[in-house]
Amino acid sequence: MLLKGKKILIGITASIAAYKIPLLVRLLKKEGASVRILMTPAAHDFVTPLTLSTLSEEAVLTQPFDKVDGSWNSHIDLGYWADLFLIAPASANTLSAMACGRADNLLLATVLAARCPVFFAPAMDVDMFQHPATQNNIKILIDRGNQMIEPASGALASGLCGAGRLEEPERIFELIRGFFFNELKLKGQKILITAGPTYESIDPVRFIGNYSSGKMGFALAETAAQMGAKVCLVAGPVHLSVQHPSIERIDVTTAQEMYEQCLKAFPDCNAAILSAAVADFTPEAPALQKIKKGALLENGMKIGLKPTKDILKSLGGLKTKEQLLVGFALETENEQTNAKEKLATKNCNMIVLNSLNEKGAGFHVDTNKVQLIYRDGRAEDLPLKSKKEVAIDILNALADLMNA
Ligand code: CTP
Repeated sequence: MLLKGKKILIGITASIAAYKIPLLVRLLKKEGASVRILMTPAAHDFVTPLTLSTLSEEAVLTQPFDKVDGSWNSHIDLGYWADLFLIAPASANTLSAMACGRADNLLLATVLAARCPVFFAPAMDVDMFQHPATQNNIKILIDRGNQMIEPASGALASGLCGAGRLEEPERIFELIRGFFFNELKLKGQKILITAGPTYESIDPVRFIGNYSSGKMGFALAETAAQMGAKVCLVAGPVHLSVQHPSIERIDVTTAQEMYEQCLKAFPDCNAAILSAAVADFTPEAPALQKIKKGALLENGMKIGLKPTKDILKSLGGLKTKEQLLVGFALETENEQTNAKEKLATKNCNMIVLNSLNEKGAGFHVDTNKVQLIYRDGRAEDLPLKSKKEVAIDILNALADLMNA
């Protein structure tokens, strides 16, 4: 529920692309946002107020007042209510009226009354979009501080092809979410992130592993990319996927492979966050063929182990003054003391302390409860949150350290 408590006002104008807005409303509501909708009278021809009021769970407003009962829809109240006002689709006609500062319908009057950031997403035919009048109106609106969500290029409802398609609802949703979470706070940064478990081979069919799902590391990678960073994600064996174009994913299996990839990537990175649950020991001599049950019974059931390389500690040794290093500590007892010791011995700037004793935290769940521990002794307790929200908190803390 990343948008819980956020108030989003959507103004729909007359364009065929209005059919995409119910999906956007659903996406926003699923993330916990409060959504209210204004329509111009002509927008009713393209999408029904009933669909939108059902999805937004709010009455859809078009007129400044009701002629039958005289009730009043205050554009001033709506303008004050919103944290963000999105006009989508924004027709050529509405853009022109907005540029002139006209107030001849409820939507336009609310634009004038809005105190929050105003985004507009044009949708029209390619020639209308490229017309100097429209371009001039857009320029005026941008110069006044409004933000345009660029229309995409492609097939248009008219049969023509070119710029003018309303951006897809999923992308508009991402932009709104990014706006609320400082999308560009990590712009220009390159971050190495490790995630998941490692598997240490006993023989070709058996391994030593652990319960890590990789969810925390993947949430960190996705969120860092959404905040503008380039991410090198070194992932152990997990059943997860990532989509973001700024994430380069390198799949590894063993602690040794993870170590090699991290050492290669780290010199080019501004920071590293090591959230992987790396095996501390690996079989001394993995068998090349499957170990037969009989052989085990005959020779005893002992597997000789040797320590793996500590990746975090190695990066701590290589770290320059400009680089930041964040480690995780998974503890079941003496949590604070052990985490502080790891912070010092592994030369980290911050440790994320995970306690397996906390309900809702740990392996295979979608939530986590952590404490952020800094070098100056500060410790910040975060409440139980989704792993996505924890990732936002960790990356905001990292961004603060970068700016310190
Ligand atoms: N880590 C690592 N390489 C290892 C082991 C751990 O990079 N071979 C990293 C983890 O990714 C994590 C941090 O070190 O960021 C702490 O991991 P944790 O398992 O809590 O601690 P260990 O150092 O392994 O110590 P212990 O098992 O004694 O608690």
